[in-house]
Amino acid sequence: MAQALRLGIAGLGTVGVGVVKIIRRHAELLTARTGQSIEIVAVSARDPNKARGVNLSSYMWETDPVALAKRDDIDVFIELMGGENGPAKTSVEAALASGKDVVTANKALLAIHGQELAEQAEAAGRAVRFEAAVAGGIPVIKSLTEGLAGNQISRVMGVMNGTCNYILTRMQSQELGYNALFEECAKLGYLEADPNLDVGGIDAAHKLALLSSIAFGTKPNFDGIQIEGIQHISLDDIHQAADMGYRIKLLGVAQRTPRGLEQRMQPCLVPSDSPIGQLEGGTNMVVIEGDAVDQIVLRGPGAGEGPTASAVMGDVCDLARGLRIPTFGRAATSLEEAQPAQTGTPAPYYLRLALLDKPGALAKVAAILGDAGVSIDRMRQYAHSESTAPVLIVTHKTTRSTLDYALNGLRDTEAVAEEPVALRIEQV
Ligand code: NAP
Ligand code: HSE
Repeated sequence: MAQALRLGIAGLGTVGVGVVKIIRRHAELLTARTGQSIEIVAVSARDPNKARGVNLSSYMWETDPVALAKRDDIDVFIELMGGENGPAKTSVEAALASGKDVVTANKALLAIHGQELAEQAEAAGRAVRFEAAVAGGIPVIKSLTEGLAGNQISRVMGVMNGTCNYILTRMQSQELGYNALFEECAKLGYLEADPNLDVGGIDAAHKLALLSSIAFGTKPNFDGIQIEGIQHISLDDIHQAADMGYRIKLLGVAQRTPRGLEQRMQPCLVPSDSPIGQLEGGTNMVVIEGDAVDQIVLRGPGAGEGPTASAVMGDVCDLARGLRIPTFGRAATSLEEAQPAQTGTPAPYYLRLALLDKPGALAKVAAILGDAGVSIDRMRQYAHSESTAPVLIVTHKTTRSTLDYALNGLRDTEAVAEEPVALRIEQV
């Protein structure tokens, strides 16, 4: 049998411990599948004395992850610490510079520095693999780079942050407001160390940047993503969207258009009976559209010890089999600069307005929308007890810039008492 594939693991938190457990539990299975035994040589984390629920005594301990990355007795460096800079970046660079392959679950690192790391890996003849970085246990990177390699991809979209989907579906089912659910997620340990990464849409946008790069052959372009979080979604929006046959989801969309590459991560209304509309809790879903395959839908756990470690091990097994696919599915030096679309694809929008309950208020709103070129498809006024009336409007398709012009007009009129809420309606 070939010599063992020797691993160094930096980061022994949720994911790192999950990886150690799989390697210990499935040693024989992994060898049978890859033809090589897979062995952990050394590990690193901040606190050597922390109880981690797994026996680490047979592995060497490195205090410094960069020293671990440079060890002569490892073949693959597994980075599971997190963070777009700091030790994650320096240790991955050190690993590549000393001839190691790299496996990471770190979407922030790759969304920001993926291009330079991919170039460094290719120059060194090594691989950077990151299945666990996008949609946890769902093998979406493998699907895009390998299974769908024969397709021209036109659109990739999905729900890629489990925490936000958990909050939005609990708002719907439990009648709890955003703030209460944010607190619940904090208690359950669902939030990233910086919660704005989750609820601000940034974590999901990191993931979208990586999918988009593979799908469209462009350098990861996180800065080109239009990002909006879920913090301003109210229970009223959840109820009223449901009333009109929609669910609110933090939806990522990357699509090729004649105007350039469109990338957005924002709360959207999707039909309640669509697969994405039906997605509950922390589950993720990614939809990929290609010219040959038409559409495929991938669904599964987007986070957690087992699912994320499962994805890491898929990458490790590929390396054990000698499979070294370019990081973003083609030579890094051949990736083009993304050309962001200056205007988005037109879509219908949901508008929620608090209207002063006075004669002529509705007429003013209709005139502002009409003057801006925004056409009303449906409208409802809800029962109210105070001086403002909640009015919900669904527009016909319009561009975001046309809508923004109308929203400025609505903000300027006294007929509208509060900041208008505008959410895109996406056909999925
Ligand atoms: P975590 O539970 O917070 O664990 C992080 C680990 O890194 C800890 O063991 C920590 O050491 C270690 N660490 C941090 N800074 C270090 C440093 N300077 N030197 C050495 N070790 C250091 O994080 P996680 O949830 O496992 O996530 C790891 C990575 O996977 C992140 O990139 C994350 O975005 C990604 N990811 C996580 C999930 C998930 O469900 N958790 C899903 C997909 C992707 P101590 O334990 O000693 O503090
Ligand atoms: N915070 C992320 C989520 C973890 O909620 O989906 C997995 O990347």
